[in-house]
Amino acid sequence: PPKAIIAPSILSADFGSLGAECSNTISNGADWLHVDIMDGHFVPNMTFGAPVVTKIRSHVERPANKKGRGTFDCHMMISEPKRWVNDFKKAGCDLYCFHYEAAISSTASTDPAETTEEKTSPLDLIRYIHSTGMLAGIAIKPETSVDVLWPILEALNAEDKPDMVLVMTVRPGFGGQKFMSSELPKVKALRERYPDLDIEVDGGLGVGTIDQAAEAGANVIVAGSAVFGAKDPRDVISKLREAVDR
Ligand code: DX5
Ligand code: ZN
Repeated sequence: PPKAIIAPSILSADFGSLGAECSNTISNGADWLHVDIMDGHFVPNMTFGAPVVTKIRSHVERPANKKGRGTFDCHMMISEPKRWVNDFKKAGCDLYCFHYEAAISSTASTDPAETTEEKTSPLDLIRYIHSTGMLAGIAIKPETSVDVLWPILEALNAEDKPDMVLVMTVRPGFGGQKFMSSELPKVKALRERYPDLDIEVDGGLGVGTIDQAAEAGANVIVAGSAVFGAKDPRDVISKLREAVDR
């Protein structure tokens, strides 16, 4: 299985000093920064948009390759994922991870000023994200079956294939929720079929839950409250990594 990628979620950081929080987190050993974008519509909470990402991006060195240290992993918990692709590319997002549920029910507009009734297919959206040079991820909520992902992962063209799959282990919207181990069979099924796929888990991860997630086959580990709430974030990051790479 691929190596551990530890991606602290800055949702639990001090928003008053976000730039410093980002650079410190990378100094503490994080590989990526997980950036939660919420629109108050797809999820019952709001965070921030592209202008804030632009500002915090400058506090972190860009990775040498697209999956290197410093990758901005933007988790788009928004209703119209296609509409914000270009803004996030310009803001410095490296990996644009949209929700399957939003793609299949949203409009296809790429203009922030306009909406249309046309639907976006996940494959079209992945191709579109790739055309900007960003990596593409696809996320599923707890209520969504992993079976929706098989046809997407089997895409015939390389540019239609996702670079990462995100299995949510809480209902998206808030940090600090309880880990749902009920979601781990999805991770296991994905890992059985795709030994090299980057599989991300998000929600309730920390030193107490990492072993089950690693055992199921997850290698990209998001942790918000466990890292930012810790006395020694560096120690938590290294423990999460050890559990995956063991
Ligand atoms: C939840 C977000 C998560 C959140 C995780 O909707 O997608 O990334 O920040 O927070 P913890 O690790 O505290 O559960
Ligand atoms: Zn997230």
